[in-house]
Amino acid sequence: MSIRRTAIALIAAPLFLTSFAAAAADDGAQIAQGLCFACHQSGINGAPKFGNKVAWAPRVAQGKDKLYANAINGLRGMPPRGGGASLTDDQVKAAVDYLVKGSGGYPQ
Ligand code: HEC
Repeated sequence: MSIRRTAIALIAAPLFLTSFAAAAADDGAQIAQGLCFACHQSGINGAPKFGNKVAWAPRVAQGKDKLYANAINGLRGMPPRGGGASLTDDQVKAAVDYLVKGSGGYPQ
């Protein structure tokens, strides 16, 4: 069942993305809400849910660079760039920052 849900998310993600890409290509909030939320809002495949500080804390503790690299390259059930193959590194990083800031933030 999770494979089926992932497949749906992967098919849906680029559809969301094209509608956002033209308007605000570098807006982390829009990318995250339009693409990343497909998994990170409900926790598909064990994705850390947006707003869940407990789920995000150990990931954030790896450091920003590791977090960015895993988002760009993919990690287990997390596809490279969240499936947004046309996103630039900076766009993926902006989306990561949005997810982290809404989920407890980076350590000071
Ligand atoms: C198809 C589902 C899916 C989509 C879409 C998705 N993610 Fe994920 N993401 C996951 C899953 C699953 C994990 C947990 C991977 C693991 O640790 O096994 C994850 C983990 C992460 C992590 C933590 C990586 C770490 O080092 O622990 C970050 C950061 C992240 N995603 C960012 C994003 C961003 C940014 C986007 C949108 C551009 C996005 N994700 C879209 C499924 C998704």
